[in-house]
Amino acid sequence: MNRSDIQKARLLLRQGEVIGIPTETVYGLAGNAYDEQAIRKIFAIKGRPLTSPLIVHTHTLDYVYSLAKEIPPQALTLAKAFWPGPLTLLLEKKPTIPDIVTAGLPTVGIRIPNHPLTRTLMTDLSFPLAAPSANPFGYISPTTYEHVEEQLGDRVSYILDGGPAQKGLESTIVGFPNNIPTLYRLGSITQEAIQDLIGPTSYMALAKTSSTPQLTPGRTKKHYSPRTPLHVGPIPTLLTKYSAHRIAALSFDKLIEGVGQSHQIILSPKRSLQQAARSLFAALHQLDKLGADIIIAPIFPAQGLGNVINERLQRASTTS
Ligand code: TXA
Ligand code: MG
Repeated sequence: MNRSDIQKARLLLRQGEVIGIPTETVYGLAGNAYDEQAIRKIFAIKGRPLTSPLIVHTHTLDYVYSLAKEIPPQALTLAKAFWPGPLTLLLEKKPTIPDIVTAGLPTVGIRIPNHPLTRTLMTDLSFPLAAPSANPFGYISPTTYEHVEEQLGDRVSYILDGGPAQKGLESTIVGFPNNIPTLYRLGSITQEAIQDLIGPTSYMALAKTSSTPQLTPGRTKKHYSPRTPLHVGPIPTLLTKYSAHRIAALSFDKLIEGVGQSHQIILSPKRSLQQAARSLFAALHQLDKLGADIIIAPIFPAQGLGNVINERLQRASTTS
C-alpha cells in the first residue's frame, strides 16, 4: 500500500473520514474541522471525553483570520516567529467553528504545522483540520506511522506516513486571557524562547486530578502514560528502591549499570536535549513493550527542553 498518497488522504477527508497525519511534533488524528460528524468520529476513535477541546490546523496566516475573531499583537508576534511550527495559539473563535471542536469554549487552539506532506495536503482543502494527537486517550503520543498503526490502525481509514516526527513533543500552547500571555502547555518551543519575544508569561499550573472540572479540560495531570508503571527520580535511588523488580530504564546519556542492555534506551549519548526530546515518546513506547514490572527514568537538566521533558515524564509517572 502507498503510505504517502496525498490524493487519497484528501479524498477521505472530503468524505468526512478521519485519518492519521504526520506533523513535526507528533502524529495527529485529523478530520474536517467544519464537519460535526467528522469531529464526533475523532472523539470516538480516541476515546476522548467531549470536554477536551481539539486544535485546529491550517496552512496560512490568512486562513487563521477566517477562524479567529482577532489576533492580538503579541499573538501575531509569536505567529510570525514560530509558524509554521510547534506553536498553538488560543484565540477567540469565529462562529464558523462548531462548538464541539472547542468543547464549548469561546477560544480555539490554532496551529500551522511544519510538515511538508501535511502542508501539501492542506493546500487543496477548503476546510481546516481538527486534530488531537493520534493516541488513545491517556496513552503516550505517537511520533511515528507505526505508533499510530499499532494503536488506532483498525479504527482509521488511512494514515499518511511522514516519517518520524522531527520534534517529538507536542506544541507549546499560548493563550491571552485578559490580555496576559499565558502558557497552557510547555512544548517543543521553550518558555525562554517565547519570553525572549514577548516578555514575561505566566504558566497555568497543572490540575491535580483528572476529575476536577477546569478551564482547560485536557490539561490534567495523568497523561501520556505508558501501561508499565513509570517512576522518575535519581537513577541510583530508583535502582536501590526497586531492586526486586524487573526494570526497564530510560537513560539520558549513558549506560545504566545493573539494568540489562536490552532493557534500556539511551536518548542522547552527546547530551543533546533536542535529540532526547525527539526520541522520548518512541523510547517510552518501546520500553512499554518489554513486559518489565516498572520503567525508571532520570530527571533531566532543568533548562529549556529539559524542563519540558521533565514535565512530560512527571505527568506520565506513577509516583507523583
Ligand atoms: O503538537 C500538537 O499540538 C499536536 C499535533 C497533532 O498538532 N496536537 C495535540 O493535540 O497535542 P491534543 O488534542 O492531544 O492536545 C491539545 C491540548 C489539549 O490538552 C486541549 O485541552 C488543549 O490543547 N486545548 C485545545 N483547545 C483549547 C482551548 N480552546 N482552550 C484551552 N485548551 C485547549
Ligand atoms: Mg494529546
